[in-house]
Amino acid sequence: MNDKRIEKEINSEIKRQEETINLIASENIISDDVSITLGSVLSNKYAEGYCNKRYYGGCNIVDNIEEICINRACKLFGVSFANVQPYSGSIANLAVYKALLNIGDAILGMDLSAGGHLTHGYKKSISGSEYKSYFYGLNNNGEIDYENVLQIAKKVKPKLIIAGSSTYSKKIDFLKFRKIANEVGAYLLADISHIAGLIVAGLYQNPCSFADVVTSTTHKTLRGPRGAIILSNNDLIMKKINNAVFPFLQGGPHMNTIAAKAVCFYEAMQKEFIDYQKQVVKNAYLMCEEFKKIGYKIVNGGTDTHMFTINVKEKGVSGFEAEKALEEVGIIVNRNIIFGDKNANDVGGIRIGTPSITTRGFKEKEACKIVFFIDQVLKNIKNDLKKQNIKKEVKKLLKK
Ligand SMILES: Cc1ncc(COP(=O)(O)O)c(C=O)c1O
Repeated sequence: MNDKRIEKEINSEIKRQEETINLIASENIISDDVSITLGSVLSNKYAEGYCNKRYYGGCNIVDNIEEICINRACKLFGVSFANVQPYSGSIANLAVYKALLNIGDAILGMDLSAGGHLTHGYKKSISGSEYKSYFYGLNNNGEIDYENVLQIAKKVKPKLIIAGSSTYSKKIDFLKFRKIANEVGAYLLADISHIAGLIVAGLYQNPCSFADVVTSTTHKTLRGPRGAIILSNNDLIMKKINNAVFPFLQGGPHMNTIAAKAVCFYEAMQKEFIDYQKQVVKNAYLMCEEFKKIGYKIVNGGTDTHMFTINVKEKGVSGFEAEKALEEVGIIVNRNIIFGDKNANDVGGIRIGTPSITTRGFKEKEACKIVFFIDQVLKNIKNDLKKQNIKKEVKKLLKK
């Protein structure tokens, strides 16, 4: 590489990823095939528009690729229509709002502090500034209270209800959300960004037959390139969504990413992918139960998924302090807002996810060791010598 400055940074990042235990629930490690596709000549191609209706010449090959990608997405999730162009999950959600709502319409999503995403109506996001956003939270057990969601929906009369989360670790009952949406005459959007891989593997209810629209990122449990997809069985809704994605929100689709999404869907159709997802869930469950055994409080009471959030505030440590101290020993997590936190800059939780470590081949034994390391760090947050010893243990585990 001629650009030595960036080459050096990339090499440092390769080393960082290899030499740390990554527990960030929204990250994963793409396959070489996905990586090669992302870096292919497809990156050179402009293709504004949709298959066979482009605004550029020379699109016959990328038309084939986008068609393959759409067909695979439809087969994988059991839907009739897919838009595979969204650059990100945030854009995918905005495209749904543009397609189904007018500015100022009411939407109902999960509160950010309960696990909702910024694009589910947070006031500082366009989803909360341009639409009238209302929120549902969690009950005292840290679970979604569907009766309460219904009561709020009856009161605020949303045009759209969002079922989906960035941290909720118990199963969401999409059928219950469908019934609530029906009672108040709202559209239902299922945002499966985190759980898409689990759904494909049959480990989580597939909302595609209940929701009017489903959005998902492709880079979390699905283990593909950064980007997103929008799925629906409704022809009219999909036409509006296509117009919202292009030309309303986006320009030329990133054809290298669309091809990489197609490769990711191919990989997700293989038996190994189901085995992988089973191990992801097994590792998360085991770690969560281990944390419970040694006295940690789990925000949603447990996990049915690839992730969970532990309350570190109860142990006298802030989320920020925990994140920093764990990074010092080579364990990467993200601090997370938990119910009751007053300030987004001073949060009491850390979120733990298993997609990356499972891709690296970690199983039950390694998962248990990581819980032990985390507990030791949190108990010795100011003890540098102890942390140095744990760092050595982390390195040993990674070398195995
Ligand atoms: C539930 C959910 N929806 C949407 C998004 C947005 O995805 P992106 O970061 O690709 O915009 C995320 C990202 O974390 C998410 O967790």
